[in-house]
Amino acid sequence: MSRIEARRDEDTAVTGNLVDRLLTGLPADAVLTDPDVTVSYANDMASFCPAGTPAVVVLPRTVEQVQHVMRVATELRVPVVPQGARTGLSGAANASDGCIVLSLTKMDRILEISPVDRIAVVEPGVVNATLSRAVNELGLYYPPDPSSWEMCTIGGNIGTASGGLCCVKYGVTAEYVLGLDVVLADGRLMSTGRRTAKGVAGYDLTRLFVGSEGSLGIVVRATLALRPQPPEQLVLAAEFSSGAAACDAVCRIMEGGHVPSLLELMDRTTVKAINELAHMGLPETTEALLLAAFDTTDPAADLTAVGALCEAAGATQVVPAEDAAESELLLQARRLSLTALEAVKGTTMIDDVCVPRSRLGELLEGTERIAEKHRLTIGVVAHAGDGNTHPTVCFDAADPDEAGRARESFDEIMALGLELGGTITGEHGVGVLKKEWLAREIGPVGVEMQRAVKGVFDPLGILNPGKLF
Ligand code: LAC
Ligand code: ZN
Repeated sequence: MSRIEARRDEDTAVTGNLVDRLLTGLPADAVLTDPDVTVSYANDMASFCPAGTPAVVVLPRTVEQVQHVMRVATELRVPVVPQGARTGLSGAANASDGCIVLSLTKMDRILEISPVDRIAVVEPGVVNATLSRAVNELGLYYPPDPSSWEMCTIGGNIGTASGGLCCVKYGVTAEYVLGLDVVLADGRLMSTGRRTAKGVAGYDLTRLFVGSEGSLGIVVRATLALRPQPPEQLVLAAEFSSGAAACDAVCRIMEGGHVPSLLELMDRTTVKAINELAHMGLPETTEALLLAAFDTTDPAADLTAVGALCEAAGATQVVPAEDAAESELLLQARRLSLTALEAVKGTTMIDDVCVPRSRLGELLEGTERIAEKHRLTIGVVAHAGDGNTHPTVCFDAADPDEAGRARESFDEIMALGLELGGTITGEHGVGVLKKEWLAREIGPVGVEMQRAVKGVFDPLGILNPGKLF
């Protein structure tokens, strides 16, 4: 027997033992081992990031089953990669070789919605849009709305601290997570936080888990804050002959004390890509298209005021939507940005740099320079009101030279973001895509402290290893 064959036999025996142990606490249909099936759990949507081959995929339905999985993983020292709908954009949910993929998608019950307490209690596999619609029916609102809201799960949103389009007014996921039930690496169950309006008992472990990318524990239940449902928003589209003018408009709107429910920017490349994909009829001659929305009691008046500011900043056209339906169409177009840019060259690397909004113009200008230098198409879509940009490098992954230039430009944009006082990631997380960059942003002392925290929760290093650091 060759050494490779012996090794393969050994791997099979290890996996066999792992599967047997898992089956002592999970039903057979919750344990997937067929490699043709398990391979489909290898990646999130950052397809360009390296991913390993899972040994097994488990789909628990109860907290006890998750505890069982973690006890087995601890006993056998097997890495665990938690997953939601795998719509993440940084490789944080990518499998590592020989891991247990722990998919929380079957734990998808909304356990409670309380209009008086203004909270919802949910399992991690609830899809964002499902929760949004359920609370809407009771006159309530769960604001965080990533573009993938029809697919992504609340557990995934918590893991990556997702944002979305409404954050400029309503903030990001972290601001809505009040309390969590978490299964720890060794299988113990911990409750953090509160379901009360206030609460400061001890360290804020809830917040620590938001954005921890499955590296500290498995979220099995979340208590989320809700708001009263606002009136339907009305959107205005403003066209600009330069990105700089559009950024100037953003600054004027924020400086003027306005509180838009959405303030998004798309450059010409993005607008063209959306039209090509979905024939939305967006204006292609504009260099930058700004969408502003208000969900106030008199949105038309707010849009008139903001439209005037756009014109003062040099807008060539200002077109308010006729009604809520037309507004929704504009938002649908916006949510297609990433898919549309993917179609340009087959592959994208999507930056997530967030800068103080006063520096947005400099980031856009610098991105243009970087695209020219590397002879690449970089479409920019941005949550402009947050200063959170997604310069999206479009490239052909089969062309090694172009792929190399894509990675260089992707990195240069992060360097520029840091220079401008920003962060490498506003809402997509670090995953494997930005690992080296986390260290550059937070420095050696920051990394040491973060590793120390990781060590407390995961002393054996089995929770999503190879991510973040
Ligand atoms: C968006 C995702 C890519 O803003 O974050 O559409
Ligand atoms: Zn985004």
